[in-house]
Amino acid sequence: ARARLTLDPAFTIGAVRRRLFGGFVEHLGRHIYDGIHEPGHPSAGPDGFRRDVVDLVKELGVSAIRYPGGNFVSGYNWEDGVGPVADRPRRLDLAWHSTETNQVGLHEFQTWLDLVGSELMLAVNLGTRGVKEAIELLEYANIAGGTALSEQRRANGRAEPFGIRMWCLGNEMDGPWQLGRRDAEDYGKLASMTANAMRQIDPGLELVVCGSSARSMPTFGSWERTVLEHAYDEVDYISCHAYYEPADGDYASFLASGTDMDAFIDAVVATADHVRAVKRSDKRIDISFDEWNVWYASRWNAIEDNLPIDHWPVAPRLLEDVYSVVDAVTFGGLLISLLNHADRVTSASLAQLVNVIGPIMTEPGGPAWRQTTFFPFALTSRLARGDALRVLVDADTVPTAKYGDVPVVSAAATSSGTGVSLFLQNRHLTEPATVTADLRGAAVTTVTAQGIWDDDMHAANTPADRERVALRTNDSARLADGTLTVTLPPVSWTAVSLA
Ligand code: AHR
Repeated sequence: ARARLTLDPAFTIGAVRRRLFGGFVEHLGRHIYDGIHEPGHPSAGPDGFRRDVVDLVKELGVSAIRYPGGNFVSGYNWEDGVGPVADRPRRLDLAWHSTETNQVGLHEFQTWLDLVGSELMLAVNLGTRGVKEAIELLEYANIAGGTALSEQRRANGRAEPFGIRMWCLGNEMDGPWQLGRRDAEDYGKLASMTANAMRQIDPGLELVVCGSSARSMPTFGSWERTVLEHAYDEVDYISCHAYYEPADGDYASFLASGTDMDAFIDAVVATADHVRAVKRSDKRIDISFDEWNVWYASRWNAIEDNLPIDHWPVAPRLLEDVYSVVDAVTFGGLLISLLNHADRVTSASLAQLVNVIGPIMTEPGGPAWRQTTFFPFALTSRLARGDALRVLVDADTVPTAKYGDVPVVSAAATSSGTGVSLFLQNRHLTEPATVTADLRGAAVTTVTAQGIWDDDMHAANTPADRERVALRTNDSARLADGTLTVTLPPVSWTAVSLA
């Protein structure tokens, strides 16, 4: 198979914001407890946070981190997670049929964020709660002092405000599974009122309103329109969520999941811009793609309906997908899609980080290691700098059951003062793809290429073999007369660095 690419540093899509490489930590399964927080683990500090996990999160290169949910937030009382740890209540977590011990709350999570060097993106509960609790949390977090709630924060050990800029107005409020779900009218009004109240405290907040929980939701499109008709003036972002898994072994479609993500983003942009046109507004709403990943969700859906009333475990093993090479290559294709929409997707959160559909896994008392998906994320976060470039792709096609014929290679590129980076995915299941890229005005002289592929596309990193899959160097990359050539193995994701 072959692909011919053309790109020019002069033809930009938009700046690549650091927030595109955000993460997501939910109180779910072993994400927090026995994941990032495990007092007594040999690598844990006095705060109970595992330093081996902190190091891996730093290596991953995640910017803002969304917290505390997810579905969890729609039943959460933030007050349960502040104050003396010994006094905190144990609560039923209906979203994940677990017991929440509240040993980690806002203060502890901020301590962990300071260790990993990430910014907090906080979600408020608009499921079982509303405007009042949202503004109380904002007062607690962001007011310097002199009021009941800000003084409570100070008494709880944090003299300075948290200074949280980015807030999510609930989570997946269209989902039948969501506690306190609403229809678009009701949610749009609630989100608008909540945003309005929050801005009365702090006009400079960046607020994310919930879009559909998936492109496949029956109200997709009309949900976004109605919600934005109510909340357009008060919010800055609308969220997108997307998870992909292979259906019945259809890996050709799975590898082309970026095609679905492209269409999803284009549709939400069109809908937001339609509302803008009707309102004759100068303001532009951007996308916060605040949940995206490969997730074998059908496995979870099969068990969640059958949980008995006496079953509320603490930190159970939930959603612990083990990712293979083909998962990582598909995942790399999703990153390519996000980069190609850098003008409108100005924030994104990989869902999630540790143990729960995570690029990082841990064992209690044992090691922490990188899943296959770790590699494309870390490399893209490190190399995608400056502006995203338009890449013209002229390529052979591969047939897929879901998306018809798709280009065999998907590609994105960025350019900064230090060079050009190219991100490439070969979707062919059996054939290599020869890529020729005309780099036009790029003043580059050196090339290196690294990526992920394997003779066994189902190879994965497991507790028994934690380093089975790692980044590999692609020695075929050559640069001559402003043209790059590189051969991509079948089912592969590659990052090419040109300086
Ligand atoms: O990431 C797992 C779950 O997926 C989140 O809690 C929810 O928002 C989504 O449905």
